[in-house]
Amino acid sequence: MNVLVIGGGGREHTLCWKLRQSKDCDKLFAAPGNAGTAKCATNLPLGVTDFEGIKKAVLNHQIEMVVVGPEEPLVKGIHDFFLADKDLQKVGVIGPEKAAATLEGSKAFAKEFMMRHAIPTAAYAEFTASTFAEGEAYLEKTNPPYVLKADGLAAGKGVVILEKLEDAKSELRRMLIDKKFGSASTKVVIEEFLSGIELSCFVLTDGTSYVTLPMAKDYKRIGEGDVGLNTGGMGAISPVPFVTEAFKNRIDAEIVKPTIEGLQKDGMPYKGFVFIGLIKVGEIPKVIEYNVRLGDPETEVVLPRLKTDLMALFSAVHQGRLDEIELEVEPHFAATVMAVSGGYPEAYEKGKSISGLGKTDMVFHAGTLGDGDRVLTNGGRVLAATSFGKDIDEAVQKSYETLEGISFEGMYYRKDIGFDL
Ligand code: AMP
Ligand code: GLY
Repeated sequence: MNVLVIGGGGREHTLCWKLRQSKDCDKLFAAPGNAGTAKCATNLPLGVTDFEGIKKAVLNHQIEMVVVGPEEPLVKGIHDFFLADKDLQKVGVIGPEKAAATLEGSKAFAKEFMMRHAIPTAAYAEFTASTFAEGEAYLEKTNPPYVLKADGLAAGKGVVILEKLEDAKSELRRMLIDKKFGSASTKVVIEEFLSGIELSCFVLTDGTSYVTLPMAKDYKRIGEGDVGLNTGGMGAISPVPFVTEAFKNRIDAEIVKPTIEGLQKDGMPYKGFVFIGLIKVGEIPKVIEYNVRLGDPETEVVLPRLKTDLMALFSAVHQGRLDEIELEVEPHFAATVMAVSGGYPEAYEKGKSISGLGKTDMVFHAGTLGDGDRVLTNGGRVLAATSFGKDIDEAVQKSYETLEGISFEGMYYRKDIGFDL
């Protein structure tokens, strides 16, 4: 079967790398891909929301399976676009239809979904410009820190956590009245602050059955010790040692199962990954957010640990027979360490030549561009070096050793991934 992976980051390189290992994957394409996907797939110069361009490519290359990496095409309805087109209807699309993708596209929608299905999450209220005064009054009644979330997609910057009431009120004004995030902050969710340790749980579902992938933890802050600005993710570990069998069972019974059943009850078809951002509050798992895709860089540790053939999983999802598949997982620890451009997550330069990529295996490209024989940096997050180990220490040390052999001007990575585990 010919397969197309949509996207061009570390997650998509990992998807291509894993799919390439499957005997059922014939020709593999990535759109737009990067210098990493170019090693295991054919890159197509297409934007991730260029549905017409994607259609042409699918028909041209007899593609039968499309795996959607990022949220934007899903929230914009790429799966619905395929179903509505008689030439594309039979193509398998891994990623939910637009209705369910709203779980990521609207925080208010996600909160209402959780309330409806009694899924544990932070208490909240939602406000618009016309209820701004009520929003201020709500902040006055709640305790710091204040958690404000722009309702819509805001390139990962839509969550603001503030200590001071005055700052929270000003931020609420910036979001609702000054439209800080454009239409994404037409609505704002104000949420109870949950204190605990976070983890990422990925579920693959065909809409009825599901498999839960190994748990992972990512490191979002730029600085060691989890300080400084938020990034797309500086590293990840899987499995997560504090997730005991008992805690896993709670996650399944209290969160995963009601989520999949809730989607069914609400009539929202879902064939794809559900990313449940969890926080462990005492012994209680609560949902921080839903995403409708895999996480990055968690993918770089979760997929390498899967022994089950990824094509077999995707075909089962497409055909609605995921219940037939038993997931097999590599017991060793996997760690990934992200090398980023100097200055990231603030202003940084692109186009730096990367050396030392020669013999590396699990070095996934996040933001790179091929330029003849050279590989250039092409984003804030550049490379994710993944390694296995019998424990976290061994896995991260191997990733550091890999990164020591690679260089580009301004390269930075955290040397404390997994420090809190
Ligand atoms: P999100 O963009 O929804 O992933 O949120 C970004 C980050 O904000 C999360 O990964 C958490 O670290 C933090 N966060 C979001 N909601 C809450 C909450 N209710 N309590 C504490 N931290 C939160
Ligand atoms: N690593 C978090 C995300 O992909 O949203």
